[in-house]
Amino acid sequence: MARRDEADKSPSSATKDSLVGLLRVVSVLIIFVVGVVIGLISTSHISRSVSIQAERFYNYKALAPMPATSCKNCTIVVNCKKEDCLSMGSFLRPKNLTHGMSDEELFWRASLVPTKAAFPYSRVAKVAFMFLTRGPLPFLPLWERFFKGHEKLFSIYVHALPGYELNVSDTSPFYLRQIPSQNVEWGSVSLADAEGRLLANALLDFSNDRFILLSESCIPVYNFPTVYKYLTRSLHSFVDSYDDPSRYGRGRYNRRMGPSIRLSDWRKGSQWFEVNRTLAINIVSDTKYYTIFKKYCTPACYPDEHYIPTFIHMFYGPLNANRSVTWVDWSLGGPHPAAFGKANITENFIESIRNNGTVCRYNSNYTPICYLFARKFDPDALELLLDLATTVMKF
Ligand SMILES: *[C@@H]1O[C@H](CO)[C@@H](O)[C@H](O)[C@H]1NC(C)=O
Ligand SMILES: *[C@@H]1O[C@H](CO)[C@@H](O)[C@H](O)[C@H]1NC(C)=O
Ligand SMILES: *[C@@H]1O[C@H](CO)[C@@H](O)[C@H](O)[C@H]1NC(C)=O
Ligand SMILES: *[C@@H]1O[C@H](CO)[C@@H](O)[C@H](O)[C@H]1NC(C)=O
Ligand SMILES: *[C@@H]1O[C@H](CO)[C@@H](O)[C@H](O)[C@H]1NC(C)=O
Ligand SMILES: *[C@@H]1O[C@H](CO)[C@@H](O)[C@H](O)[C@H]1NC(C)=O
Ligand SMILES: *[C@@H]1O[C@H](CO)[C@@H](O)[C@H](O)[C@H]1NC(C)=O
Repeated sequence: MARRDEADKSPSSATKDSLVGLLRVVSVLIIFVVGVVIGLISTSHISRSVSIQAERFYNYKALAPMPATSCKNCTIVVNCKKEDCLSMGSFLRPKNLTHGMSDEELFWRASLVPTKAAFPYSRVAKVAFMFLTRGPLPFLPLWERFFKGHEKLFSIYVHALPGYELNVSDTSPFYLRQIPSQNVEWGSVSLADAEGRLLANALLDFSNDRFILLSESCIPVYNFPTVYKYLTRSLHSFVDSYDDPSRYGRGRYNRRMGPSIRLSDWRKGSQWFEVNRTLAINIVSDTKYYTIFKKYCTPACYPDEHYIPTFIHMFYGPLNANRSVTWVDWSLGGPHPAAFGKANITENFIESIRNNGTVCRYNSNYTPICYLFARKFDPDALELLLDLATTVMKF
């Protein structure tokens, strides 16, 4: 008998049916209890580890051995009371950075903004440190020392080339902080894609408030408390953005970008940006301008040097300090900035990056601190930098 006919039944057949229904329920219950008992017996030897791990609401794997249930994911939940698929914990801060989302899905999720004014948890603003690297991070020991003791105030994200796996101990703040990556060709739009991917992954953590992009050749030049205070208290984001009238600036503008992007909108700047949450969300939410850049900003136009500086200038100019907090030396000329190795590292050199005697605009005031980070450093500089971390950089 088809289920949809049940509503038309006479009272007597309804009584009969309810008896049959009761029998069904009882038999299902018996089967369930037997299943539970078998399950309990077969898993009793590992029940201790199960109960410990079951408390980690996000660890689906640990819940797998539960009796008579299938609890592998949150799509289908059968008799699975331990699993809280709508838990705030995993919504506010994904514990597992390895996910199967496409860029389109990821950027959409990252663009979601709460409308309610207050957070339903005590939110401590964090700084997201986003490392864009080809492979190894030669200054890992320096960064680990920089981060030590400040675990609640930062998150780390690493975008390396696909196939590269960062090998760090499970006590390192870099442990399991690699995001799903795609190939990056320096100079192509795939570099801007990787930057967006870092931003989008970092946005999934609702506590991240400031987002700083760093490379494998970057080092911190101030200690964590100074960096944290400087960034979280700033009214402006730090995106290098300027009008360069030369062929390396305006010369890269393509008239077919108009009328959406006019020559007077065109800006250039270092790719190593720092933005607050509002700007980060606006960057990952943009499709229109990204598409124009993808189409018309091809070598010798480099999207990573123009897309974000131009986009921010066009729509969020007043929110930007227009300068980078990452120091770099272009004084030698040429297409690449100076790289500093073992032979170049002295106390005076690091001191001069920390403070070269000038002041920089900060909120409505001035500060002697212009740069919090510096590039580019060669791997052989590590030992000397570790020494100077204690004496000069104070961490
Ligand atoms: C969840 O599990 C069900 C049943 O095992 C499966 O059909 C589905 O594809 C799984 N979903 C994901 C996202 O893994
Ligand atoms: C994270 O998720 C991926 C894919 O969903 C899975 O393969 C991996 O085992 C998970 N890692 C941990 C530590 O749970
Ligand atoms: C990871 O590092 C550990 C300790 O330095 C080393 O023993 C191990 O072989 C490394 N693994 C890989 C895959 O490089
Ligand atoms: C980002 O900075 C702008 C300008 O200071 C500010 O209006 C906005 O509220 C900030 N956004 C967040 C999420 O802090
Ligand atoms: C940065 O440049 C924008 C124009 O794009 C301007 O509105 C803003 O005031 C500048 N920021 C500072 C701190 O001068
Ligand atoms: C670093 O030191 C070497 C050796 O003294 C020198 O040749 C090189 O020019 C220095 N590099 C920079 C960027 O100052
Ligand atoms: C100090 O740094 C500022 C900002 O980068 C720069 O404009 C200035 O020329 C530097 N001064 C010296 C003496 O190096």
